[in-house]
Amino acid sequence: MSDMEKYNKPWDSNLITREYFDSLLVEMRHIDSVIPSTKLELFGETFDTPIMMAALSHLDNVCENGMVEMAKGAHAANAVNWAGMGDEVEIAAITATGARTINIIKPYADNDYIFRRIEHAERCGVMALGMDVDHSFQGNGKYDVVLGEKMKPKSLIELKEFVKSTKLPFIIKGVLSEQDAYKALEAGAKGIVVSHHHGIMNYTVPPLYILPKIAKVINHQIPIFVDCGIVSGMDVFKALALGADAVSAGRVIMEPLRKSGSEGVKDQIIKMTEELAGVMARTCFQDLNHIEPSVICHRNGW
Ligand SMILES: Cc1cc2nc3c(=O)[nH]c(=O)nc-3n(C[C@H](O)[C@H](O)[C@H](O)COP(=O)(O)O)c2cc1C
Repeated sequence: MSDMEKYNKPWDSNLITREYFDSLLVEMRHIDSVIPSTKLELFGETFDTPIMMAALSHLDNVCENGMVEMAKGAHAANAVNWAGMGDEVEIAAITATGARTINIIKPYADNDYIFRRIEHAERCGVMALGMDVDHSFQGNGKYDVVLGEKMKPKSLIELKEFVKSTKLPFIIKGVLSEQDAYKALEAGAKGIVVSHHHGIMNYTVPPLYILPKIAKVINHQIPIFVDCGIVSGMDVFKALALGADAVSAGRVIMEPLRKSGSEGVKDQIIKMTEELAGVMARTCFQDLNHIEPSVICHRNGW
């Protein structure tokens, strides 16, 4: 990030997040190190990488059948796929690729519609589902409207009902405070995504800044996922070290998707996974479960 960018947009949560990633430094630990495993165990299934697709949507302007191509790429890399807003036909097409998919349903104003979408996602065989609770308001304090669809913030009671309505793990996406982490646990969520939804509000804390505090609240009871601004295996490593169980990558896969479709997505996941393995080898962590925060140092000023 250039000084000019920082100067011109000091409020930009994406720039603040990038700056925070780059403020984190990593010790090296070579003695006794071995070739590391990047295998992820999640909800009883095993994947080759903790790098998952982000819950994206509407990728047809990136490449034809963008969401399906992304799913195929994730499947080919044996990575978890996520899917955001999309109609039932699209979710069915995504899951038909065989990609193990987590479907994030929007906080629609109409709860009956949410229950129907939960049932539909279950029928499609998703591995988990959830809601991006951070997409309920517009910046002017009114309820959000996304592509003509009305949204409404959800109460703890409503979230408990969504969780109760499904046998699948229900994940709350858009947790960026200890307060919401406590509430997610109380709601019965089976996972959270620490995220500011690529800068939905200005001046948000970077996910990795708040992550250690959230991890303390969650205390290994449910998996913690992180997204926003992850572009390299080193970024992934820092997130895992500070308390994430896995991460999602969104915008970084869009250019490879545009250029080479599912192959591009697969290659990008593999490239970042190899970078992660490289850092794990040089920090003496044999697998994901051993990575811990003492390896991270903070530059002055943070
Ligand atoms: C084109 C696009 C569409 C997205 N659609 C959704 C969505 O439907 N549901 C959702 O929860 N998040 C959605 N997101 C947010 C991502 O899941 C993710 O939180 C965000 O992009 C941060 O990750 P990144 O910096 O790796 O892109 C979308 C992001 C992008 C770029």
